[in-house]
Amino acid sequence: MTPNIKPLIAGNWKMNGTSEQLPEIKVIAAGVSAATYDALICTPFTLIDRAARLCADTALHIGAEDCHANSSGAHTGDVSAPMIKDAGAHHIIVGHSERRTDHGETDQGVHEKAQAVQDADMTAIICIGETRQEREDGRANTVATSQIKGSIPPQSTATNTVIAYEPIWAIGTGLVPSNEDIASIHAHIRNELISLLGEEGAAMRILYGGSLKPGNAEEILAIQNVDGGLIGGASLKSADFLAICNAVKS
Ligand code: 13P
Repeated sequence: MTPNIKPLIAGNWKMNGTSEQLPEIKVIAAGVSAATYDALICTPFTLIDRAARLCADTALHIGAEDCHANSSGAHTGDVSAPMIKDAGAHHIIVGHSERRTDHGETDQGVHEKAQAVQDADMTAIICIGETRQEREDGRANTVATSQIKGSIPPQSTATNTVIAYEPIWAIGTGLVPSNEDIASIHAHIRNELISLLGEEGAAMRILYGGSLKPGNAEEILAIQNVDGGLIGGASLKSADFLAICNAVKS
């Protein structure tokens, strides 16, 4: 946590979920509270409209997992930020490592997508994080610095941008960096954000992502400069997601 920053507990459903899973959204919406944290579930495009309707008048926000960098045009199969906003979402994840790997997304491409999200008056959740090899080589901070410089648009503010630090080797593996390593890299990210964006960087949320679960949430969310989480597998079950939300200390 960082003093004066309200944590964000965000789920990333990835390529999971059909109408059968919508009741989970309803249970999460009924269980979250806006008092001490903000709550968000990013769903596949196909569920955004229905999920957003289910969450109307609740504290749960709905987001998307990717968008195109243009607002419209001849891009068969792609979806733009204004379209996602029209469907009822306010946040869009950009640059998730699975997209960087599966679709060859570069820092420059992520930068353009983040700018498109911001131009649509939405919040971009920009993902960064190192591979196992990069960590073993002692390059985790260097990788974070270059991803931050390459992916974050200069007009980013604490309102229109969230950073998610997700070490690739911790995603879906059950492996988690030590609390000291999380504290160290989040402090490094904070310093880089401040040197890039000044006060906005000081106030920007930095989420931790990678095998965050009910069993480790309380200790990870208590670490300095960890301003919430981006949760994959455990966000698919309402009980697990709500348990992580309840781990936020007021
Ligand atoms: P897991 O929580 O399943 O490790 O996934 C993390 C993630 O990739 C969230 O974007």
